[in-house]
Amino acid sequence: YGAAQVLVASNRGPVSYTVGEDGSLNAKRGGGGLVSGLSAIGSDADALWVCSALSDGDREAVRRGVGEDGVRMLDIPADVHADAYNGIANSVLWFVHHMLYQTPLEPVFDTEFRRQWTSYETYNRAFAEALAEEAAQGAAVVVQDYHLTLVPGMLRELRPDLRIGHFSHTPWAPPEYFHMLPDDVAGQVLRGMLGADRLGFLTQRWADAFTACAERFAGGLGGTRIGVHGLGADADFLRQRSHEADVEERMAALREEIGEGRRTIVRVDRTELSKNIVRGLLAYRRLLASHAEWRERVVHVAFAYPSRQDLAVYRDYTAEVQRISEEINAEYGTPGWTPVVLNLKDDFARSLAAYRLADVALVNPIRDGMNLVAKEVPVVSDAGCALVLSREAGAFEELGEDAIVVNPYDVTGTAAALHEALSMRPEERAERSKRLAAAATALPPAQWFLDQLDALRG
Ligand code: G6P
Repeated sequence: YGAAQVLVASNRGPVSYTVGEDGSLNAKRGGGGLVSGLSAIGSDADALWVCSALSDGDREAVRRGVGEDGVRMLDIPADVHADAYNGIANSVLWFVHHMLYQTPLEPVFDTEFRRQWTSYETYNRAFAEALAEEAAQGAAVVVQDYHLTLVPGMLRELRPDLRIGHFSHTPWAPPEYFHMLPDDVAGQVLRGMLGADRLGFLTQRWADAFTACAERFAGGLGGTRIGVHGLGADADFLRQRSHEADVEERMAALREEIGEGRRTIVRVDRTELSKNIVRGLLAYRRLLASHAEWRERVVHVAFAYPSRQDLAVYRDYTAEVQRISEEINAEYGTPGWTPVVLNLKDDFARSLAAYRLADVALVNPIRDGMNLVAKEVPVVSDAGCALVLSREAGAFEELGEDAIVVNPYDVTGTAAALHEALSMRPEERAERSKRLAAAATALPPAQWFLDQLDALRG
């Protein structure tokens, strides 16, 4: 047996490496709820994070034996990883849970899918074996997300002594949509997950959908318990970080781009199909068309960071976001006013600067496990923001009362919601924003993670 008492497994780990021109390796630490959550258990707890080597730099780090304490990267063969990550996880399971297929033509489950599925099994087995090797007797293991659905079942067979949890950061598809997967694959996914002692979801809605799938296709939950842990925003970190010098600098630059006395509608996402960025832009265009009074008086700041660029649909989507933004600017822009400020280059400090300047936050996903941007902007915005929020985001369950709620497919409705948000009286906006911030920070990342561990051990 190994020495780790608490283990986390996820495809993307907390650190990534690049190879410099002189051949040296540079480490970059990532952020996110899981990183701050895990830091809460302290460094002396024999914690280990098992993740994939994703970049050439990561693979090089594994080969040279370079690494951080508490992190083990698995160098899974690149073609196996590509099949599992791009092919199955991001093109099938992500599409199923977010209900993204254009069903007259997709999905097609044929020989290519079968080959990729075999890779997905291999990749999951590599994680299960590494965890089995590293875990101390009776240790707690929390497996993350749709990349690793088979791990709990595989690990249970290798190490029946462990406490195994799995946490989904995505929605879960309802049975009618989930059973689009071939029956044997659907069964494997469910039985893999049900190998866990406990399954965590971000909202009751996704937990209920999983339970319904298990009842219909896997004979029920068996001994597996289900819990809901609604990850919240990290208020202390965000408030402090958003007042640092680099953020202030970017605020000055953004203010210049926006122009004096204008309202700001902010969105920040990965350039991700499920985030519905295109319909957001169409709604903004509709607003400018039907409410001429906002022309010259509002700017849409849209940050859409590169994501999953190995997949053609994501590259096409990015191009579409760019095209529509340019169209709106060509159609409505004037020498002194650029209606859409689009930026595709990832910059966390600039995102925080936009949060601080936001009058309106636009969060309109087709479907989203939670959506932390909806929770972060009210915490950070200087004057308080109005939130336009899709009913399909997990965050809707917690923030729905004080947000302006939209059907993400309804562009006219979203335009009307933007108008309502822009027109809200400042006092009402500030009050609502305060309540949104309070709800958004109810379960900060550290507590979120500790709650899961307690529940797993209890
Ligand atoms: C979602 C998933 C995560 C994933 C993240 C970024 O939030 O739930 O598991 O890490 O997207 O996607 P990527 O493919 O870049 O890891």
